[in-house]
Amino acid sequence: MTTADRLTMSLGEAMFTQRAIRRLKPDPIPEDVMRDLMEAAIRAPNGGNTQQWHFIVVKDDEKRKQIGELYHEAWWAKRKDQGIMGPEDIPPGKNSTRSAMRLANEFGDAPVMVLICALSKGGSGGIIPAAQNLLLAARSHGIGGTIATLHAVVDERVKKLLNIPETAEIVYCMPLGYPRGEFGSVTRKPLNEVCGLDTWDNPYK
Ligand SMILES: Cc1cc2nc3c(=O)[nH]c(=O)nc-3n(C[C@H](O)[C@H](O)[C@H](O)COP(=O)(O)O)c2cc1C
Repeated sequence: MTTADRLTMSLGEAMFTQRAIRRLKPDPIPEDVMRDLMEAAIRAPNGGNTQQWHFIVVKDDEKRKQIGELYHEAWWAKRKDQGIMGPEDIPPGKNSTRSAMRLANEFGDAPVMVLICALSKGGSGGIIPAAQNLLLAARSHGIGGTIATLHAVVDERVKKLLNIPETAEIVYCMPLGYPRGEFGSVTRKPLNEVCGLDTWDNPYK
């Protein structure tokens, strides 16, 4: 049986229920399942099929712990860039920010993290479809996660920890695991607010 055969959830269900899952169980992801996720990731479209990407599946306990600490530092560095100095500065109602803050506290407990890197700096756009392929395959296997980014303050230390070449760019650092909650449907603005027909300002109805 191939990876393609094992990803049996309908594409519609996967796309419409693939939410950011930030509360993860510590249970390990079986190796054959993890391999399916990575096989799906590397099938993604990419510029000229030059595959300017490199992935690192991090399972090692000590490395996950260190990445968890570095992610926490990166998350708060990003908030400080926005003038948010601590939890008290997060505006009420900003539930996704609070949920992301919780993830920053628990990041190191994710059973697997996947670092998605571009082979050269400025190449981040070319790896985005791979990240989405990975998340859709994860959804099909009942595994949750989210795209997450680091910050320049920690990049060098993460590179040293994982032997990432200086010339590469860490684009995403994705925690993965079985969800503690439910997947549920994705909420987005209606199509006619974000899509035009023939011109920008003619709502696509
Ligand atoms: C480029 C990009 C960067 C993101 N960075 C983070 C992040 O650092 N931390 C995090 O918790 N979520 C991150 N997210 C997840 C988004 O917050 C999430 O996709 C968005 O809130 C929609 O959530 P939903 O799909 O559950 O509706 C990122 C998403 C994208 C596309």
